[in-house]
Amino acid sequence: MPKLTVPKIQEMKRDGKKIAMLTAYDFPSAALADTAGVDMLLVGDSVANVVQGKTTTLPVTLEEIIYHAEMVVRAAKTAFVVVDIPFPFFQMGPLEAIKAGARILKESGADAVKVEGGENRAQTVSALVEAGIPVVGHCGLLPQDVLRDGGYVVRRQQDQLQRDVEAVQNAGAFSVVLECVTQKIASAVTQRVNIPTIGIGSGVGCDGQVLVFHDLLGFKPSEPSRTPKHVRRYADLGRIISEAVTHYVDEVRSGTFPGDENSW
Ligand code: KIV
Repeated sequence: MPKLTVPKIQEMKRDGKKIAMLTAYDFPSAALADTAGVDMLLVGDSVANVVQGKTTTLPVTLEEIIYHAEMVVRAAKTAFVVVDIPFPFFQMGPLEAIKAGARILKESGADAVKVEGGENRAQTVSALVEAGIPVVGHCGLLPQDVLRDGGYVVRRQQDQLQRDVEAVQNAGAFSVVLECVTQKIASAVTQRVNIPTIGIGSGVGCDGQVLVFHDLLGFKPSEPSRTPKHVRRYADLGRIISEAVTHYVDEVRSGTFPGDENSW
């Protein structure tokens, strides 16, 4: 299958084909997701939470995101790779956003960048697109604004969300992520815009869905209560990994590993 491109992703909306996006942060997980047929891989700044163990996405540096993106790009044979511009390069305005976006594309080989914000940051989206950098917008709950907002704020105002998504679309973004928007509002917005909407916690009316790799696979067996409501766990890998590692530790301690078959 040929690699997905911006026009082909836009065509998927026109043809009513749902887009499956998944986060990825390293070569083996990206290769598995790519082989499994994921359309778009997102090197999200959620790498801070799920890989680095941090409490917000704010600490991720540009160098770190490029480091992860480069591994993902090498694994992606058909999936389209999108990379978050980490805080605060997009917020710093057109010039810094272009410098950061260009570094991401040049140094990792990714296909596009994702940026958080609506009407208030449309000018910067436009500058990125003008510079030849394909942009995925991100509206609704904005994790990079967590400190300013005093928490993760679910947006419930349809008018504002509509204006945000339209502003991002008119600025040239070719797709937009809608995070934690009510199902009703996300469906209404999806019908009114021409670019594909990719929902996370925003219901089935979006043109596509995105999940965090580690959430989908259940990497956190000890904290099921902290799994966000919008996550569906398709596997319980956390439990499987814990059991396998415990088994290994037990066998090392009891002297049953390595066996004769493991020795040269
Ligand atoms: O960083 C990320 O993983 C994201 C998704 C939650 C959409 O932005």
